Amino acid sequence: KKGICPIIEKDLPARLEIGIKSGNLNFTIDSKKAIRENEIIFIAVGTPINEKNQETDLSAVFNVAKEINKFSDSSKIVVQKSTVPIGTGDLIESVLRTEVHLLGGFDHIVVSNPEFLKEGNAVADFESPDRVIVGTDNEKAKKIMTGIYNPFMRKMKRVIFMSRSSAELTKVFANTMLAMRISAINAITELAEIFEADVAEIREGIGSDSRIGSAFLFPGGATFGGSCFPKDVRSLVTIMREQCLSAGLFEEILKVNFRQRQRFIFKIFKYFNKSFKNKKLAIWGLAFKAGTDDVREAASLDVISIVLDEGGEIVAYDSNAMRNFQKKIGVRDGLVYRNSQYQALEDADALIILTDAMEFRSLNISRIKELMKSPVIFDGKNLHKPMEMAECGIDYYCMGRPYYPPK
Ligand code: UGA
Repeated sequence: KKGICPIIEKDLPARLEIGIKSGNLNFTIDSKKAIRENEIIFIAVGTPINEKNQETDLSAVFNVAKEINKFSDSSKIVVQKSTVPIGTGDLIESVLRTEVHLLGGFDHIVVSNPEFLKEGNAVADFESPDRVIVGTDNEKAKKIMTGIYNPFMRKMKRVIFMSRSSAELTKVFANTMLAMRISAINAITELAEIFEADVAEIREGIGSDSRIGSAFLFPGGATFGGSCFPKDVRSLVTIMREQCLSAGLFEEILKVNFRQRQRFIFKIFKYFNKSFKNKKLAIWGLAFKAGTDDVREAASLDVISIVLDEGGEIVAYDSNAMRNFQKKIGVRDGLVYRNSQYQALEDADALIILTDAMEFRSLNISRIKELMKSPVIFDGKNLHKPMEMAECGIDYYCMGRPYYPPK
């Protein structure tokens, strides 16, 4: 209501301000009022993984459905946008139909409208979507959803209608496919290292095939994290297992992701003769990716925990995520934060890069050499060229690219 954006998301604060000032955007915790005054209701609540049973926690989704059922005084179009397992639309529908309501039953229409926004680029993705998926067989709902997305369809018509189950499965499968590409190229880094091939060249080679394309093929030791890829792959695997189907192909995605992260951490550990005692390591990048303050399933959590557990010290920097990281990991001995990337390098035995933030993509080599105890870089995002680094006197390690000793 105050126009303060509680998350870091490019261009969102400006949209918030415009929306509030124009009166188009309102916030309320009065669900009765919100439900009665609107015909179309989007469910966009969190669906985290339950730590105990690894299942998607749908309680927030069902709570909204119950509120809709309780307070509606007319039938609504209920648009399900939260990321949910396949079949959730049917469950929402049954909640809407069977729960006790105040004014008698209404025939609400449940639509699946999965979102494909990437954190850090969400506003641009929303305003210029590759496609909008609408899962419904209901003609009225189709017309209304077309109207809602019409302002974003000036260049190209990109609303695709399908059944609700297809829409739900499309969402989870899209994330799984993207995660599978990343795991595929990460798996190749191991082989590339053995044969001294270069994964950057391989990426260019395969990415230029228009059937493959080069997006979502960036390898690295700081493997995929966030709230979406790990959750959706798990969700697909779980539902396939429940149906007694073989989920081996998809199970391997998470295994490769885990193994690659461990391989990266082990590279660092091995460099220090398997002991982080009295070693000071600088970390650039704490979020699960650049451009966000979200640290869920971030590589930084694993890397930093292992270094601290093994007696090392960490000096961390991230332009967005330091506060969230601190909240998540708590106060730990040996862990400090710095407000500038170069300050974090003072007296460090090595620098570990964990996101591909723009500020980490070009390096001030002389400052690095001046500030660090020894100029050693472990690059979890493969941002730099090993040979160039060696020529600058940097001892540089990444994944799946040849190693050159520093000159
Ligand atoms: C992902 C999807 O890209 C969105 O389309 C989807 O809407 C969203 O999940 C969701 O389900 O809500 P997001 O998790 O925000 O978006 O971020 P991505 O840009 O997809 O990156 C996910 C992870 O993969 C990050 O850790 C990133 O560093 C990593 N990544 C990405 C790679 O390791 N290599 C790549 O080539 C691309």
